[in-house]
Amino acid sequence: MKTRVTKAIFPVAGLGTRFLPATKSIPKEIMTLVDRPLIQYAIDEARAAGIKEFIFVTSRGKGALEDYFDIHPMLEQTLRRAGKDGLLEMLKNTNMDSGEIAYIRQHKALGLGHAVWCARRLIGNEPFAVILPDDVIAAEKPVLQQMVEAYEQTGGAMVAAMEVPPDKASSYGVLDIEEDMGDLVKVKGMVEKPAAEEAPSNLAVIGRYILTPKVLANISKVKSGAGGEIQLTDAIAAEINQNRGVYGFRFRGQRFDCGSKAGFLQATVAFGMARDDLRDEFTAYLDEMMSVRRAAQ
Ligand code: UTP
Repeated sequence: MKTRVTKAIFPVAGLGTRFLPATKSIPKEIMTLVDRPLIQYAIDEARAAGIKEFIFVTSRGKGALEDYFDIHPMLEQTLRRAGKDGLLEMLKNTNMDSGEIAYIRQHKALGLGHAVWCARRLIGNEPFAVILPDDVIAAEKPVLQQMVEAYEQTGGAMVAAMEVPPDKASSYGVLDIEEDMGDLVKVKGMVEKPAAEEAPSNLAVIGRYILTPKVLANISKVKSGAGGEIQLTDAIAAEINQNRGVYGFRFRGQRFDCGSKAGFLQATVAFGMARDDLRDEFTAYLDEMMSVRRAAQ
């Protein structure tokens, strides 16, 4: 089996119900943090980690996503004529080369595990990454790159993990830890959305994975799990039962759950404040808001 990770699956076939009515016609992944769609952050992170093939698992209504990666000759011509070289350059960086990107359809939203499984024929016999674009992570070194480097030492299957408060664990897949090695933990079990009192730890899985074709084979066998969906967590946990290594990776970075409204707003504030062209005006506004609020209290 090839060991370098050069393919990534982006499952974007979910319904995005938490962002209705917007997601009635706009894919969640096209929603913007300041001026860049969520998907652009995911693509940039994947490229930094050495990914060369980008596989999107899409569904009805995701046409805007496909258009986003296409060249837009008319717009480029208009910008060129107007001498807007900076904008032209930025636009070109969003184009994908022919053959670099593939779209596979998930006909029914049967769960994340099922979405990943839909891409099985494009993966072949090599490890691959899975990136959920609604988990946006601000990090000095892009998180998938951190994981690919760690994966070179461990092999097996790897999930990005972060500590969450006990009352939040039931929203995530949670790791049962066999050995804690600091950045890396060896895992002896995984539970998707456990009841608060049954969570085996406070280490939760978030949307970055490095997996092997064996996990894809497991997905064919797993039955619907939590929420009636075919869960990726269950297919990864099946690796442990077959005595193959599964690792959690404590990444360095700040993760925003942009699949939730509160997380999306927090990310908007954080990314707005991180921008040189907006920082002063935006921070002054936030300071003013805070002082008005304090005065009102
Ligand atoms: P979520 O659990 O956030 O679901 O999926 P969702 O449909 O996107 O949003 P809500 O909960 O209805 O608001 C996590 C990731 O898995 C993908 C989603 O597109 C998202 O990137 N997914 C989920 C699929 O591709 N197919 C599925 O059947 C389910």
